[in-house]
Amino acid sequence: MLQTHNHLFLKAIKNEPIERTPIWIMRQAGRYLPEYINLKNKAGGFISLVKNPELACEITLQPLKRFSLDSAIVFSDILVISEMLGINLSFVENKGPVFDKTIRSEKDLNQININDYHVDNLEYVFDTIKLLKNELHEKKPLIGFIGSPWTVATYIVEGNSSKKFNNVLGMLKNNPRLLHKILNILTDVSIEYLNKQILSGIDVSMIFDTWGGLLNDKEYEEFSLRYIKKIKASLVSKGIPLIYYIRETEKKIHILKDMDIDVLGIDSSSNIGLIKNQIGNKYALQGNLDVNVLKLDEKNMRESVEKILRDYNSPSGHIFNLGTGITPDIDPDKVKMLIDILADISPKYNVK
Ligand code: CP3
Repeated sequence: MLQTHNHLFLKAIKNEPIERTPIWIMRQAGRYLPEYINLKNKAGGFISLVKNPELACEITLQPLKRFSLDSAIVFSDILVISEMLGINLSFVENKGPVFDKTIRSEKDLNQININDYHVDNLEYVFDTIKLLKNELHEKKPLIGFIGSPWTVATYIVEGNSSKKFNNVLGMLKNNPRLLHKILNILTDVSIEYLNKQILSGIDVSMIFDTWGGLLNDKEYEEFSLRYIKKIKASLVSKGIPLIYYIRETEKKIHILKDMDIDVLGIDSSSNIGLIKNQIGNKYALQGNLDVNVLKLDEKNMRESVEKILRDYNSPSGHIFNLGTGITPDIDPDKVKMLIDILADISPKYNVK
């Protein structure tokens, strides 16, 4: 039996020799899979799945049953952390996340449990991790994750996924003190939450900073990066690798190249070769296929995959993934096609 620490994915993270490029897919358990839709309808919605450890475990394993993926990722969401602060989260079909409270003022902040937060409110996540570790039998590593404090703050201040960010960007300009207070609280709860995921058994940790790219360099360092550094410094185990994902990766590479992380997750607008040239072997790279390539025929898909491998141009330290989450309009057979193509062509790039 393959031990987790010998797994291809973990070897790629450590830049060790590998025989082919490992792959997992952001949002690999999700709406493009009919078996996901089925179970979600039975459970009564996304959040009901997340809060039921048996179902969350089953959903996590669904894509691994169908495809030869190299890692599992806990089925949950970056926004459930709001529940540690007593802010209730729901998901409205075709609309996305909605909170029962938004934080836009000192008064709003004083109405939540800022000094009395409860990691136990997320016990269902830790139970899911324990069930998964048992089911995975060390055959596949398990990724646990959080959102960056900045990215989570964009949702908690807006109250939903408005994608306009007027309130949070307004707060950044007009009341940075309040925003720092919120970010400090989110950092404290994130540390406690991620550490408990580590203690429950995850093999790899990941921080999603989806909206870090909304900020200019100075703002990014002040409102996102410094909190991520604090989280990284506070992890209970130094042995658990950390993947950091940010959209518009290339624009921030002059800052990211000095980061103390194990893997950088790259979005599809960036050129992986350009990023590889900047960071050398400092850490591994993950990404960055455009999700729309999964709509192409085999010949064109093969060319797109080959281009990424050619651009990366190094025998280890690459984990294949999309640049964003997989979308509901993708045919699962195309995912299988992608995995087969990668298994077919990546060995010639890896064995040197
Ligand atoms: O990758 C995985 O399979 C693990 C599970 C996971 C989900 N969300 C499940 C999910 C992870 C790692 C996330 C991260 C997440 N959640 C991010 C960062 C990554 C990214 O996508 O940029 C963000 C910003 C969120 C917040 C979020 N969750 C939004 C805005 C939405 C609604 C819009 C959308 O994409 O559906 C979600 C819903 C969500 N999270 C779904 C899943 C499977 C869809 C639920 C459904 O309708 O069935």
